[in-house]
Amino acid sequence: MNLSTTIRMLFNALTKPEQHILIGDIPAGHILDIGGGGEGVIAQAGGTRVTPIDKFMSEIHEAREKAMNAHWMTADATQLPCKNDSFDAATMFFSAMYMPSDVKEKVFKETHRVLKTSGELWIWDVNMRQERQVFAIRLQVKFNDTLKIKTIYGVKAKDQSAASICDMLLQTGFEPKVVTQNKHWFLIKAQKQEHIAQ
Ligand SMILES: C[S@@+](CC[C@H](N)C(=O)[O-])C[C@H]1O[C@@H](n2cnc3c(N)ncnc32)[C@H](O)[C@@H]1O
Repeated sequence: MNLSTTIRMLFNALTKPEQHILIGDIPAGHILDIGGGGEGVIAQAGGTRVTPIDKFMSEIHEAREKAMNAHWMTADATQLPCKNDSFDAATMFFSAMYMPSDVKEKVFKETHRVLKTSGELWIWDVNMRQERQVFAIRLQVKFNDTLKIKTIYGVKAKDQSAASICDMLLQTGFEPKVVTQNKHWFLIKAQKQEHIAQ
């Protein structure tokens, strides 16, 4: 990313209100957290229950310090080095926004493969439009009254919405069960279906 894109992204983030997210709960059981580097939010929330994977070792180095007891793994989520049916649940905390559509689709298919029967996939992410060129969101994430993370996630803009992600989930074998839509971000809780819709 060049300097001018970075400056536009920062401007984009700073001109919108900071979003407050309370991680009240995360899925039960052993969780695969896809794109879990950066701040390692889900790893910080779930500790030993979480296997965060990220394709960049540098992102893991940054996050590992904050959640030493999670099972960190460097891997591309389009080709997970995991057995079928090995996780109770999966999460994507503002990582889908970093993936073009074709990558997202492959990641959902791989996630479906490694989840156990009826496993849940929770996705926190944003609505954005490609024509805006850059997109950034400024977050304050709270787990409880003591632990608070402030961060900015920014990307080259893509066409993405809760509706487009729900469509893709349906095509890759998930049924969206709960969609919580806020002005600047959303949370989708989807469940693995045994039969993929045609
Ligand atoms: C900014 S982070 C998202 C926030 C992060 N979940 C947190 O807790 O701070 C997005 C991450 O997704 C990762 N990522 C993007 N595409 C990926 C892929 N195909 N496989 C694994 N990780 C990927 C990026 O390397 C990046 O670290």
